[in-house]
Amino acid sequence: MNQELWNSVDSYIAGKLVGEDLDFVLKASDAAGLPPIAVSPAHGKLLHLYARAIGARRVLEIGTLGGYSTIWLARALPEDGKVITCEYSARHAEVAKANLQAAGVAGKVEIRVGAALDTLPQLSGGEPFDLVFVDADKENNPHYWQWALRLTRPGALIIVDNVVRGGKVAAASDEPMIVGTRALYDAVAASGQPATAVQTLGVKGYDGFLIALRTDEA
Ligand code: SAH
Ligand code: DHB
Ligand code: MG
Repeated sequence: MNQELWNSVDSYIAGKLVGEDLDFVLKASDAAGLPPIAVSPAHGKLLHLYARAIGARRVLEIGTLGGYSTIWLARALPEDGKVITCEYSARHAEVAKANLQAAGVAGKVEIRVGAALDTLPQLSGGEPFDLVFVDADKENNPHYWQWALRLTRPGALIIVDNVVRGGKVAAASDEPMIVGTRALYDAVAASGQPATAVQTLGVKGYDGFLIALRTDEA
């Protein structure tokens, strides 16, 4: 582990390629007392690039926090695009709302407050999503995977954060977060959808993303 080195490389990447214009969102979330667990700037930009690369118009996010990843995703969409983001905490949602306003994307984002497993069913029958970013309570990841399959169009990307957790994922564990994450891998593998996971190092330590392409008609 060399966290200092990873931090300095993340600063270098941010300085060269990402920019600092959304750092105010992280600062505002910090000042409001939210935990510092938003995606890193480099990874926010990665989500943004995925959304742009597939021409996403509708994005579903599970886990808003202060809206940092939400804003990166919203910025990738056309004027009439939409991010629907699910957040359990009314307080986090309030902080996010202010950040979305300040970033100029409030018009493209709807926050659904409540436990995602309660609010996701309300999205059934709506226009399908082009991209789903799952980043909430890891215990429920296998359920979120099923909802992502239900609510997307064929060709959609489904991305899940925190699927490596310092390497803990590769060993059986009774931590609910790890149990949920391993059950996610099993569900993705069983679904037959093309998928992989990428291990990441940086300001958020050692973790990773899972990326799946939803190909089958549901
Ligand atoms: N995606 C954000 C970080 C999300 S942190 C970013 O990168 O900027 C995880 C968030 O999920 C927290 O705000 C937490 O309150 C929320 N969360 C936890 N359990 C949830 C649930 N059951 N339904 C919806 N949101 C939940
Ligand atoms: C943590 C990091 C995350 O990206 C997240 O979504 C939840 C928790 C953490 O480091 O504790
Ligand atoms: Mg996360």
